[in-house]
Amino acid sequence: MAENAQVAAQLGAPAIDINFGCPSKFVNRKMGGSVLLQEPERVYNIVAAVRKAVDASTPVTAKIRLGYKDDSLALDNALAVESAGASELTIHARTRIEGYTPPARWEALAPLREALTIPLIANGDIRSIDDYYRCADASGCVDVMLGRGALNNPLLAKQIKQSRNNEDIVQLDWSVVSSLILATSAQMELEFSNEYVVMRIKQWLKMLRGHHPQAQQVFNEIRRMKKLEDVKLVIDGDVKIITLQK
Ligand SMILES: Cc1cc2nc3c(=O)[nH]c(=O)nc-3n(C[C@H](O)[C@H](O)[C@H](O)COP(=O)(O)O)c2cc1C
Repeated sequence: MAENAQVAAQLGAPAIDINFGCPSKFVNRKMGGSVLLQEPERVYNIVAAVRKAVDASTPVTAKIRLGYKDDSLALDNALAVESAGASELTIHARTRIEGYTPPARWEALAPLREALTIPLIANGDIRSIDDYYRCADASGCVDVMLGRGALNNPLLAKQIKQSRNNEDIVQLDWSVVSSLILATSAQMELEFSNEYVVMRIKQWLKMLRGHHPQAQQVFNEIRRMKKLEDVKLVIDGDVKIITLQK
Protein backbone atom coordinates (compact mmCIF):
# COMPACT_ATOMS: atom_id res chain seq x y z
CA MET A 1 0.00 0.00 0.00
CA ALA A 2 2.81 2.43 0.89
CA GLU A 3 4.71 1.68 -2.33
CA ASN A 4 1.58 2.11 -4.43
CA ALA A 5 0.74 5.36 -2.67
CA GLN A 6 4.21 6.65 -3.54
CA VAL A 7 3.75 5.75 -7.20
CA ALA A 8 0.29 7.39 -7.25
CA ALA A 9 1.72 10.56 -5.68
CA GLN A 10 4.60 10.62 -8.20
CA LEU A 11 2.07 10.30 -11.01
CA GLY A 12 0.34 13.42 -9.70
CA ALA A 13 -2.42 12.11 -7.42
CA PRO A 14 -3.75 15.17 -5.53
CA ALA A 15 -4.58 12.96 -2.53
CA ILE A 16 -4.55 9.31 -1.46
CA ASP A 17 -7.92 7.99 -0.27
CA ILE A 18 -7.80 4.47 1.16
CA ASN A 19 -10.95 2.42 0.66
CA PHE A 20 -11.84 0.14 3.58
CA GLY A 21 -15.47 -0.04 2.49
CA CYS A 22 -15.52 -2.38 -0.49
CA PRO A 23 -17.94 -5.30 0.13
CA SER A 24 -16.88 -7.39 -2.89
CA LYS A 25 -16.24 -11.04 -2.00
CA PHE A 26 -13.38 -11.11 -4.50
CA VAL A 27 -11.68 -8.11 -2.84
CA ASN A 28 -12.45 -9.28 0.72
CA ARG A 29 -11.00 -12.76 0.05
CA LYS A 30 -7.71 -11.04 -0.77
CA MET A 31 -7.82 -9.12 2.51
CA GLY A 32 -8.88 -5.87 0.85
CA GLY A 33 -11.81 -3.54 1.58
CA SER A 34 -14.29 -3.96 4.41
CA VAL A 35 -12.91 -7.28 5.71
CA LEU A 36 -10.07 -5.22 7.24
CA LEU A 37 -12.56 -3.50 9.54
CA GLN A 38 -12.38 -6.60 11.75
CA GLU A 39 -8.79 -5.62 12.57
CA PRO A 40 -8.49 -1.95 13.63
CA GLU A 41 -4.78 -2.41 14.30
CA ARG A 42 -4.25 -3.39 10.69
CA VAL A 43 -6.30 -0.38 9.57
CA TYR A 44 -3.97 1.77 11.68
CA ASN A 45 -0.84 0.15 10.24
CA ILE A 46 -1.99 0.62 6.63
CA VAL A 47 -2.97 4.27 7.06
CA ALA A 48 0.23 5.01 9.02
CA ALA A 49 2.43 3.32 6.39
CA VAL A 50 0.78 5.26 3.58
CA ARG A 51 0.97 8.53 5.53
CA LYS A 52 4.68 7.97 6.12
CA ALA A 53 5.37 7.07 2.48
CA VAL A 54 4.06 10.22 0.81
CA ASP A 55 5.01 13.85 1.16
CA ALA A 56 3.18 15.80 3.88
CA SER A 57 1.68 18.01 1.12
CA THR A 58 -0.35 15.04 -0.17
CA PRO A 59 -3.44 14.50 1.99
CA VAL A 60 -4.08 10.91 3.07
CA THR A 61 -7.74 10.15 3.79
CA ALA A 62 -9.75 6.99 4.37
CA LYS A 63 -13.22 5.61 3.85
CA ILE A 64 -14.71 2.93 6.10
CA ARG A 65 -18.10 1.37 6.80
CA LEU A 66 -19.65 1.08 10.27
CA GLY A 67 -18.15 -2.39 10.42
CA TYR A 68 -18.00 -5.80 8.82
CA LYS A 69 -20.72 -7.82 10.59
CA ASP A 70 -21.82 -5.21 13.15
CA ASP A 71 -20.90 -1.77 14.52
CA SER A 72 -18.88 -3.00 17.51
CA LEU A 73 -15.51 -1.86 16.12
CA ALA A 74 -16.73 1.37 14.49
CA LEU A 75 -15.15 3.66 17.06
CA ASP A 76 -11.89 1.66 17.15
CA ASN A 77 -11.59 1.85 13.37
CA ALA A 78 -12.43 5.57 13.24
CA LEU A 79 -9.86 6.35 15.93
CA ALA A 80 -7.30 4.08 14.21
CA VAL A 81 -7.66 6.10 11.01
CA GLU A 82 -7.34 9.40 12.88
CA SER A 83 -4.39 8.42 15.05
CA ALA A 84 -2.53 7.02 12.03
CA GLY A 85 -2.45 10.55 10.59
CA ALA A 86 -5.32 10.67 8.08
CA SER A 87 -6.68 14.17 7.56
CA GLU A 88 -10.32 13.19 6.82
CA LEU A 89 -12.53 10.17 7.30
CA THR A 90 -15.61 9.22 5.30
CA ILE A 91 -17.99 6.67 6.78
CA HIS A 92 -20.53 4.78 4.70
CA ALA A 93 -23.23 4.39 7.36
CA ARG A 94 -23.82 0.67 6.84
CA THR A 95 -21.93 -2.51 7.65
CA ARG A 96 -20.55 -4.80 5.00
CA ILE A 97 -23.45 -7.18 5.64
CA GLU A 98 -25.93 -4.37 5.04
CA GLY A 99 -24.40 -3.90 1.59
CA TYR A 100 -26.14 -1.05 -0.21
CA THR A 101 -29.61 -1.61 1.24
CA PRO A 102 -31.46 1.47 2.58
CA PRO A 103 -31.74 2.97 5.04
CA ALA A 104 -28.20 4.12 5.81
CA ARG A 105 -27.93 4.55 9.59
CA TRP A 106 -26.82 8.19 9.77
CA GLU A 107 -27.53 8.38 13.52
CA ALA A 108 -24.79 5.80 14.16
CA LEU A 109 -22.28 8.40 12.95
CA ALA A 110 -23.14 10.92 15.70
CA PRO A 111 -21.03 9.39 18.52
CA LEU A 112 -18.13 8.88 16.09
CA ARG A 113 -18.37 12.53 15.05
CA GLU A 114 -18.16 13.46 18.73
CA ALA A 115 -15.07 11.32 19.29
CA LEU A 116 -13.06 12.52 16.28
CA THR A 117 -11.14 15.74 15.76
CA ILE A 118 -10.60 15.30 11.99
CA PRO A 119 -13.52 16.10 9.64
CA LEU A 120 -16.02 13.24 9.37
CA ILE A 121 -17.85 12.96 6.05
CA ALA A 122 -21.17 11.12 6.07
CA ASN A 123 -22.07 8.76 3.23
CA GLY A 124 -25.06 6.63 2.30
CA ASP A 125 -28.52 7.22 0.80
CA ILE A 126 -28.25 10.97 0.26
CA ARG A 127 -30.36 11.35 -2.86
CA SER A 128 -31.98 14.77 -2.42
CA ILE A 129 -31.52 18.13 -0.71
CA ASP A 130 -33.96 16.98 1.96
CA ASP A 131 -31.88 13.82 2.59
CA TYR A 132 -28.84 16.04 3.07
CA TYR A 133 -30.51 17.99 5.90
CA ARG A 134 -31.89 14.84 7.53
CA CYS A 135 -28.44 13.23 7.42
CA ALA A 136 -26.77 16.37 8.80
CA ASP A 137 -29.31 16.48 11.66
CA ALA A 138 -28.93 12.81 12.52
CA SER A 139 -25.14 12.54 12.19
CA GLY A 140 -23.91 16.02 13.12
CA CYS A 141 -21.80 15.95 9.91
CA VAL A 142 -21.75 19.07 7.75
CA ASP A 143 -19.97 17.41 4.83
CA VAL A 144 -21.31 14.45 2.91
CA MET A 145 -20.18 12.13 0.13
CA LEU A 146 -22.67 11.29 -2.62
CA GLY A 147 -22.68 7.90 -4.33
CA ARG A 148 -25.68 6.79 -6.34
CA GLY A 149 -27.47 10.11 -5.70
CA ALA A 150 -24.88 11.88 -7.87
CA LEU A 151 -25.46 9.41 -10.70
CA ASN A 152 -29.25 9.83 -10.44
CA ASN A 153 -28.89 13.60 -10.42
CA PRO A 154 -25.45 14.91 -11.47
CA LEU A 155 -26.31 18.36 -10.10
CA LEU A 156 -27.14 17.17 -6.58
CA ALA A 157 -23.88 18.35 -4.97
CA LYS A 158 -24.33 21.80 -6.49
CA GLN A 159 -27.99 21.95 -5.48
CA ILE A 160 -27.12 21.05 -1.87
CA LYS A 161 -24.49 23.77 -1.83
CA GLN A 162 -26.95 26.30 -3.30
CA SER A 163 -29.55 25.36 -0.72
CA ARG A 164 -27.05 25.79 2.08
CA ASN A 165 -26.16 29.24 0.73
CA ASN A 166 -29.84 30.23 0.30
CA GLU A 167 -29.32 30.57 -3.46
CA ASP A 168 -31.71 29.65 -6.30
CA ILE A 169 -31.53 25.94 -7.06
CA VAL A 170 -30.46 25.23 -10.66
CA GLN A 171 -32.17 22.43 -12.59
CA LEU A 172 -30.25 20.26 -15.01
CA ASP A 173 -31.10 20.50 -18.70
CA TRP A 174 -31.05 17.14 -20.53
CA SER A 175 -28.66 18.48 -23.20
CA VAL A 176 -26.13 19.08 -20.43
CA VAL A 177 -26.62 15.53 -19.14
CA SER A 178 -26.12 14.14 -22.67
CA SER A 179 -22.88 16.10 -23.02
CA LEU A 180 -21.80 14.79 -19.63
CA ILE A 181 -22.44 11.21 -20.72
CA LEU A 182 -20.36 11.73 -23.88
CA ALA A 183 -17.53 13.39 -21.95
CA THR A 184 -17.53 10.56 -19.39
CA SER A 185 -17.56 8.02 -22.21
CA ALA A 186 -14.47 9.65 -23.76
CA GLN A 187 -12.71 9.43 -20.41
CA MET A 188 -13.68 5.77 -19.87
CA GLU A 189 -12.58 4.86 -23.42
CA LEU A 190 -9.01 5.73 -22.47
CA GLU A 191 -9.00 2.92 -19.93
CA PHE A 192 -11.72 0.39 -20.71
CA SER A 193 -13.03 -1.72 -23.58
CA ASN A 194 -15.89 -0.39 -25.72
CA GLU A 195 -18.18 -3.17 -24.41
CA TYR A 196 -17.54 -2.04 -20.85
CA VAL A 197 -18.24 1.61 -21.71
CA VAL A 198 -21.54 0.65 -23.42
CA MET A 199 -22.55 -1.33 -20.32
CA ARG A 200 -21.75 1.63 -18.05
CA ILE A 201 -23.67 4.11 -20.25
CA LYS A 202 -26.75 1.86 -20.17
CA GLN A 203 -26.43 1.50 -16.40
CA TRP A 204 -26.14 5.27 -15.94
CA LEU A 205 -29.14 5.99 -18.20
CA LYS A 206 -31.22 3.64 -16.06
CA MET A 207 -30.19 5.60 -12.96
CA LEU A 208 -31.01 8.94 -14.62
CA ARG A 209 -34.57 7.91 -15.55
CA GLY A 210 -36.15 9.13 -12.29
CA HIS A 211 -34.98 12.69 -12.89
CA HIS A 212 -35.00 12.82 -16.70
CA PRO A 213 -37.73 11.16 -18.83
CA GLN A 214 -35.39 11.63 -21.82
CA ALA A 215 -33.02 9.09 -20.24
CA GLN A 216 -35.74 6.45 -20.65
CA GLN A 217 -36.23 7.39 -24.32
CA VAL A 218 -32.51 7.19 -25.06
CA PHE A 219 -32.23 3.95 -23.09
CA ASN A 220 -35.05 2.40 -25.15
CA GLU A 221 -33.24 3.37 -28.34
CA ILE A 222 -29.86 1.95 -27.34
CA ARG A 223 -30.85 -1.02 -25.16
CA ARG A 224 -30.12 -3.59 -27.90
CA MET A 225 -27.07 -1.80 -29.30
CA LYS A 226 -23.65 -3.33 -28.74
CA LYS A 227 -21.37 -0.91 -30.61
CA LEU A 228 -20.17 2.17 -28.75
CA GLU A 229 -20.16 4.22 -31.97
CA ASP A 230 -23.90 3.56 -32.47
CA VAL A 231 -24.69 4.40 -28.86
CA LYS A 232 -22.76 7.65 -29.06
CA LEU A 233 -24.55 8.63 -32.28
CA VAL A 234 -27.91 8.33 -30.52
CA ILE A 235 -26.74 10.34 -27.53
CA ASP A 236 -25.03 12.90 -29.76
CA GLY A 237 -28.16 13.17 -31.92
CA ASP A 238 -30.10 13.74 -28.77
CA VAL A 239 -27.86 16.64 -27.79
CA LYS A 240 -28.35 18.24 -31.21
CA ILE A 241 -32.14 17.80 -31.30
CA ILE A 242 -32.51 19.38 -27.90
CA THR A 243 -30.12 22.20 -28.83
CA LEU A 244 -32.10 22.95 -32.01
CA GLN A 245 -35.39 23.06 -30.15
CA LYS A 246 -34.13 25.72 -27.76
C1 LIG B 1 -21.43 0.88 -8.77
C2 LIG B 1 -20.73 1.37 -7.52
C3 LIG B 1 -19.32 1.43 -7.50
C4 LIG B 1 -18.64 1.87 -6.36
N1 LIG B 1 -17.27 1.94 -6.36
C5 LIG B 1 -16.62 2.44 -5.27
C6 LIG B 1 -15.21 2.60 -5.26
O1 LIG B 1 -14.51 2.28 -6.23
N2 LIG B 1 -14.63 3.10 -4.15
C7 LIG B 1 -15.36 3.47 -3.04
O2 LIG B 1 -14.80 3.94 -2.04
N3 LIG B 1 -16.71 3.31 -3.02
C8 LIG B 1 -17.34 2.82 -4.10
N4 LIG B 1 -18.70 2.68 -4.08
C9 LIG B 1 -19.45 3.00 -2.86
C10 LIG B 1 -19.92 4.44 -2.85
O3 LIG B 1 -18.83 5.34 -2.81
C11 LIG B 1 -20.78 4.71 -1.62
O4 LIG B 1 -20.04 4.48 -0.46
C12 LIG B 1 -22.03 3.82 -1.57
O5 LIG B 1 -22.64 3.69 -2.85
C13 LIG B 1 -23.03 4.38 -0.56
O6 LIG B 1 -23.44 5.68 -0.93
P1 LIG B 1 -24.84 5.93 -1.68
O7 LIG B 1 -25.91 5.30 -0.84
O8 LIG B 1 -24.90 7.44 -1.77
O9 LIG B 1 -24.74 5.29 -3.04
C14 LIG B 1 -19.39 2.24 -5.21
C15 LIG B 1 -20.80 2.17 -5.24
C16 LIG B 1 -21.47 1.73 -6.37
C17 LIG B 1 -22.99 1.66 -6.34
